[in-house]
Amino acid sequence: MDMLGDAEFARRLTEVADKVTVALDQLIPPAQGPEADLMRAMRHSALANGKRMRPFYVIEAGAMFDAPEKSLLRTAAALECVHCYSLVHDDLPCMDDDDFRRGQPTVHKAFNEATAVLAGDALLTLAFKILSSRETHADPHIRLRLIERLADNAGALGMVGGQMIDMLEHDSPRDLNTITRMQRLKTGALISYSVEAGAIIGGANEAERNALHGFAHDLGLAFQISDDLLDATGNEAEVGKPLRKDEDAGKANFVTLLGVEAAKERVQMLASQARTHLAIFRNRANILLQSVDFVLDRNR
Ligand code: IPE
Ligand code: IPE
Ligand code: MG
Ligand code: MG
Ligand code: MG
Repeated sequence: MDMLGDAEFARRLTEVADKVTVALDQLIPPAQGPEADLMRAMRHSALANGKRMRPFYVIEAGAMFDAPEKSLLRTAAALECVHCYSLVHDDLPCMDDDDFRRGQPTVHKAFNEATAVLAGDALLTLAFKILSSRETHADPHIRLRLIERLADNAGALGMVGGQMIDMLEHDSPRDLNTITRMQRLKTGALISYSVEAGAIIGGANEAERNALHGFAHDLGLAFQISDDLLDATGNEAEVGKPLRKDEDAGKANFVTLLGVEAAKERVQMLASQARTHLAIFRNRANILLQSVDFVLDRNR
């Protein structure tokens, strides 16, 4: 695969994002019956204008191994459901207490807190329903592996564990090691799953899986530092969510600990480390290579 021009690359990202939105629209149950607000709330979250970066990595990592498109798209949609659930719960008053997300009111603002909790629960559950369905892959071993690894990366040893560290009282000082661990779990784990899922569906060998894991490991951390940089220096209208949150809450993150310049340097260092992991794929990994700058140098 040749390197794409910036405009072409952006078009490819948009194409994937649109496909995922269509898939989610079909997979989330229609709003019916007395519980209709639940489905409306799920749709409010999942069909909103997200970057769909995790789905992009499922699809592009899988494409390197010529994995079947339908399997990749359904797995990408399942992962996006988990990501959306994590955002709905992350925004709740008991967690970050945010009123805007993806340029629109958060689910508990547009509906109410109970509906937001339940919509998050239902999005999480839907993800596992999607992965377990025969339509996702004919081979039950592959489906089971996708499910097991998503559970690992989303649960106590992954994203939820990281959110727990984030919620700990702030009187215990947070050093760089703790912050790194927290970010690797709360953000890194789902990003790591995205490329792993593509590799599982594509039947990658061990060396290829390890290379992709190394790539995602570095990219995930760089992505969260870039989120912290956006929090500190971004433009709220572009980002679509409230900013300066960590600083106002007295929460340590990479930027509050290192300062803006050193945090930027760390992003660049991690980005080049991430690219190095892709060397074994040669030009098959060009899209993933190109994605690094795109994902890190963003304004939302
Ligand atoms: C936001 O993720 C939460 C983090 C883990 C930093 P994204 O920046 O991918 O959010 P969306 O999906 O584009 O809204
Ligand atoms: C959220 O991290 C990570 C998850 C939702 C798992 P943040 O709290 O920094 O994300 P934003 O900034 O609200 O998107
Ligand atoms: Mg948070
Ligand atoms: Mg938050
Ligand atoms: Mg943030």
